[in-house]
Amino acid sequence: MKAALLRALKQAKGEYISGQEISDILGVSRTTVFNTVSALRTDGYEIESVKNKGYLLKKVPDIIKDYEVESILETQWLGKKVVYEDSIGSTNTLAKELADKGYDNGTVVIADHQDNGRGRRGRSFVSPKGVGIFMSMILKPAFTPEVAPMLTLVSALSVSKAIDSVTGEKTQIKWPNDIVLNGKKICGILTEMSMQTDYINNVVIGIGINVNNTQFSEELQDIAGSIYLQTNQLNHRADIIAQTLYYFEKYYNVFLETNDLSGLVQEYDSKLVNLEKKVKVLDPKEPYEGVAKGITQTGELIVQTNKTTSYVSSGEVSVRGMYGYV
Ligand code: BTN
Repeated sequence: MKAALLRALKQAKGEYISGQEISDILGVSRTTVFNTVSALRTDGYEIESVKNKGYLLKKVPDIIKDYEVESILETQWLGKKVVYEDSIGSTNTLAKELADKGYDNGTVVIADHQDNGRGRRGRSFVSPKGVGIFMSMILKPAFTPEVAPMLTLVSALSVSKAIDSVTGEKTQIKWPNDIVLNGKKICGILTEMSMQTDYINNVVIGIGINVNNTQFSEELQDIAGSIYLQTNQLNHRADIIAQTLYYFEKYYNVFLETNDLSGLVQEYDSKLVNLEKKVKVLDPKEPYEGVAKGITQTGELIVQTNKTTSYVSSGEVSVRGMYGYV
């Protein structure tokens, strides 16, 4: 009810909308409209009501609850079911449990805070309350398990486009899946898969975005940043979530046409922070340097050394810029 009412208020685009009109659109009584407006005010929405004119939405709080996200969602299937928690261990862990329990393809788990946020390579992901986005998408694809790692790159492209569209900035991707803004990492992605030998049970794509964070620990601040710290602008997190889901659905459709990245390579490369730059490939056997030339249609990074061209797989090694993180 809250989502539908918010959508009606938002679609009025700064104009008043009458209680009668809202109750007609929603198919509920005027009393229900009145009570829902009161509940939304308690949540922090500023809704003006004027006799003979109706309701006007004046201010939307920066919350990422299910109904706020649902009220601005523009997708066909992704995020049609949102599970929201104020505080949780890890959205990926909950999403995996829900996926195993039978929750549908396209379900999205969102939290305002995580106390056990998990990163890649066993690292933790700092997830403070009220400033970041911690979300996980459940997918149940029909393709075979070796295709799944490419989804991380689809996600990176989607988040990067979403942040650009909301903020007007130009974010970049540090291969394979960190989002970088003015040299700082502002988003990380953790893809986890549950599979049989040749069959995927489900894939959970976890996305953590530093949106309005005002500080990072000394240990993190060389690498990590937030959209706020890099641009001095606060953003509504729900807008970034809704845009991320919109772009992911769009790019995932392109991906499913070929089950690889061939339709997305060009766009991905245009955002690659390392493109035509010298990189250090931290191969455990023997680290080496070369120039990054873009990605293949299966998502490997193409690195040109003096002698040869190598194709770096994300699971195996990490890549650094010559002078630090990017
Ligand atoms: C990384 O950069 O190492 C990946 C970080 C992924 C963090 C997100 S936050 C939402 C989801 N839940 C988790 O526990 N991790 C991912």
